[in-house]
Amino acid sequence: MTNINTIKNKEIGFSQIPDNQIIDFESTFGAHHYGRLGLVVRKAEGAWLYSIDGTKHLDCLAAYSAANQGHNHPKIVGALLDALKGQYGSVISNVVYTDSLGLFLKKSANLVPQLGPRFGANGNKVLPKNGGVESVETAVKMARYYGWKAKGIEDGKQEIIVFTRNFHGRMITTVSFSPTPKYKEGFGPLTPGFKIVEFGDLEGAQKAITPNTCGILVEPMQGEGGMYLAGEGFLSGLRKLADDNDLLLLFDEIQVGLGRTGKMFCFEHENVVPDGIILGKAISGGLVPVSIFVTNTKLMDMAFQPGKDGSTYGGYPLACVACNAAIDVIIEEKLAENSAMMGAILKEKILDIASRSSHVKEVRASGLFIGIEVTSGDAMVFCRKLLDIGMLANDSYGHTIRISPPLIIGESEVDYIAERLEKVLID
Ligand SMILES: Cc1ncc(COP(=O)(O)O)c(C=O)c1O
Repeated sequence: MTNINTIKNKEIGFSQIPDNQIIDFESTFGAHHYGRLGLVVRKAEGAWLYSIDGTKHLDCLAAYSAANQGHNHPKIVGALLDALKGQYGSVISNVVYTDSLGLFLKKSANLVPQLGPRFGANGNKVLPKNGGVESVETAVKMARYYGWKAKGIEDGKQEIIVFTRNFHGRMITTVSFSPTPKYKEGFGPLTPGFKIVEFGDLEGAQKAITPNTCGILVEPMQGEGGMYLAGEGFLSGLRKLADDNDLLLLFDEIQVGLGRTGKMFCFEHENVVPDGIILGKAISGGLVPVSIFVTNTKLMDMAFQPGKDGSTYGGYPLACVACNAAIDVIIEEKLAENSAMMGAILKEKILDIASRSSHVKEVRASGLFIGIEVTSGDAMVFCRKLLDIGMLANDSYGHTIRISPPLIIGESEVDYIAERLEKVLID
């Protein structure tokens, strides 16, 4: 057995402990809450992941869109190093002001078009948190508060409409309205107040509205739920339902926002502006966990006054420094545009492969967010084969291979992906 003292290069966090021992540590001492592929990653740079022997894998998962800017982007790393060296990264507490938070709030509020324009051109306000699910809960609180305060719904009776195959995170409230039984089985009592409607079914959404409905929460394109696009007219139909019935329309763009689908925000494909948006993952460029809820100033001020919310690390300086650099990278490097361009080329190649493959049921794509549903219903079989030939991808909803590389990739990586898909999808 290798002695733990064999760790080398400790200063860069890279150890020489063999892969099998690392896997053993994780399986012995860690919760088994993720199914794993047998790859131990020692270093990540740009779109590539490196093993102990220098083997490379192209990262076609990008941590579920958290690494849109590519791994360890020098601008984001540089900003973090400056903060650490300059002693302005440490958590202070939100009872005082910090310049990094002020700058981040301004940058992120202005990144999003005016949300909830029916509430006035008041600008947007931002509430920062850590993991994505926390900001989903902020959005749920916003809708419920609006229902109570503005619509006069009895507190405790508020209802929110959500959709089949939704994925909004893993805490009690979000699993409560997940349609996936294993996410919630045994974890009761669950949070009430949600109605699940078929994704894409406008009539169903209309029928689900009651006098107690306060909001609609939807992913403009589903990520974990099998990578389904909202059909044409679905989002604008929801917008109309929300307007007609005075509901808050909330978009969860944690996975599909920030350039992933070829636009800065997925909702721009249909030009439908929500009342609130949830962002996470790539907002901080893959180095610290940050999520935000953004809404019209009038709504934010209505719901969130002192004592109504809070988070020790939410909006702490190091996180804000990372976010400021991460947003700049998305804009300066035109990652949304690159996603649209590379995504279109890759989609063409995948459609060609699909036309010759007996394994492909459907291809669903927007920018560099490409799902390949397989006829067998077991996408992991193909993901394991892809791993063996230098490409990391995983499944979405079991039946779909998810291709979502960092948005920095160029045509050589597109060819690399297509060549490997050809190998595993054509017998
Ligand atoms: C659409 C969506 N919402 C919420 C979440 C939860 O984010 P987190 O895992 O950071 O809590 C995810 C994570 O994949 C997601 O894709």
